[in-house]
Amino acid sequence: MNKILAAITAVHGYVPDSVLTNHDLERIVDTNDEWITSRTGIKERRILTGEGLATSDMAVPAVNGLLTKRGISADQIDLIIFCTSTPDMLFPATANILADKIGAKNAWGYDLQAACSGFLFGLATAASFIESGKHSKVLVVGGDKMSSIINYEDRATCIIFGDGCGCALIEPNSEGLGIMDSILKSDGSGREFLYQRAGGSLKPATHETVDAKEHYAFQEGQSVFKFAVTNMADVAAEIMEKNQLAAEDVAWLVPHQANKRIIDATANRTGIPSERVTVNIERYGNTTNGTIPLCLWEWENQFKKGDNLIIAAFGGGFTWGSLYLKWAY
Ligand code: UT7
Repeated sequence: MNKILAAITAVHGYVPDSVLTNHDLERIVDTNDEWITSRTGIKERRILTGEGLATSDMAVPAVNGLLTKRGISADQIDLIIFCTSTPDMLFPATANILADKIGAKNAWGYDLQAACSGFLFGLATAASFIESGKHSKVLVVGGDKMSSIINYEDRATCIIFGDGCGCALIEPNSEGLGIMDSILKSDGSGREFLYQRAGGSLKPATHETVDAKEHYAFQEGQSVFKFAVTNMADVAAEIMEKNQLAAEDVAWLVPHQANKRIIDATANRTGIPSERVTVNIERYGNTTNGTIPLCLWEWENQFKKGDNLIIAAFGGGFTWGSLYLKWAY
């Protein structure tokens, strides 16, 4: 009997309509389009505007689009893994809020917090539930309303991040297609380089924490860059070596979109040419958990059944990893 693999059977995404360009940012902080473009590759990002809208509100259209595409209803979903660093609330889980909003009455769910590696970790986790036979329809959502934790007076962070959300449905596959392997890593000693100082149990919200702007994302960009550029490239190369894949065997590299220079370094290290690397950072910036599913969604029409894909990510924590899958449709 063929081993049951966990395959992506549908993807979809959503980005808000409101666009924040580099030229818009020039009017807010001391920066310029040339600096942002040459240092990051970003030209514009999307921002979720409007009262009372949260990360789950981007997930609703993304998931509804996915369900329509796959021709299934929300009550057929067994499990929702919501990968986010900007949950609607600290608790309950955004997965539960989403389940209620879309009518996934038979699903249980939880949030997965691994910063920019969240969606990759979510795919690997979902695969275990499918491979074990426990579930047959797992929804992995990756999305962030980064604008809710960005200080638009801090030019070092506000130029990078944007809002967006994507999702993937994972189902059993007996044709030998799906998630073949993953390498997942974390190193908590990196936590001081990219984090939100206040709002957790270590430093609950007070007037002082708000005044000190400690509820915003803080990033020591150069240190994160140094770790990201090496580790994301290494882990992508590692999974290819482990599975005896040469660059020509890989149809697509799908990297986390943090900085075009990090994406290029990963492509160079793996030998995968730029025309087979998914890049949309110029339009969306870094949407944290959203980058990888948004790439899968935008490139879905170019993927062919049986294509080898390498997904790689690096994020706060530090967390990083890679995943090798054979596209299943
Ligand atoms: O996705 C999760 C993981 N995150 C990442 O992977 C992000 C990794 N880090 C980065 O992508 C880059 O470090 C940044 C894009 C954040 C910054 O680029 P950088 O090339 O590392 O710049 P830097 O921080 O070394 O700053 C260089 C100079 C500084 O000026 P001085 O000290 O040389 O005079 C900064 O003050 O650029 C200045 N600078 C800016 N100038 C114009 C910093 N931000 C800006 C800005 N506009 N927005």
